[in-house]
Amino acid sequence: MKRVLVLHGPNLNLLGTREPAVYGSVSLPEVDRALRQHGQRRGVVVDCRQSNLEGQLVTWLQGAEREGYGGVVFNPGAFTHYSIALRDAVAAIRVPVVEVHLSNIHGREEFRRHSVIAAVSRGQISGFGPESYVLGIDALLTMNDARQPPRRAGSPVPRPARGRQAPGRRGSRR
Ligand code: DQA
Repeated sequence: MKRVLVLHGPNLNLLGTREPAVYGSVSLPEVDRALRQHGQRRGVVVDCRQSNLEGQLVTWLQGAEREGYGGVVFNPGAFTHYSIALRDAVAAIRVPVVEVHLSNIHGREEFRRHSVIAAVSRGQISGFGPESYVLGIDALLTMNDARQPPRRAGSPVPRPARGRQAPGRRGSRR
């Protein structure tokens, strides 16, 4: 995996000043900088985007594979709890999506305990502050490594077939 897309949903642009007791005092640009640096250390390019608009998030999810991303780390914000459009977008794409939350949504108000995104995501990470995103990136990379066949010491690095998918991988998801 060469590139990971991090998507932040509504109100996450206010990180740092928004309910700091719940979401912490680190701003979104600071979080994004740390994620890009983490990506550099792990050998992947991390791009971060934020939108308050549901349709924009749908468009970014739909375009992730075409744009060359191998995985998406997604904090849908409040859309987590009711956006069927985002749920359907995550279900529709082949790129694996890890749902993340800064706060532990399962320990908060009743209406936050249900995610309509979780069942169609590869998994959910919730409650570790900005570290949730780091764990999300690492989960994508670990899963990706697990899909590579083990190589014997000294054997050549396999080169991907040009212009066609490896057998058995056609249409495969996450
Ligand atoms: C959140 C949790 C949501 O319930 C809330 O609406 C958010 C942030 C989190 O990261 O903890 O906007 O997704």
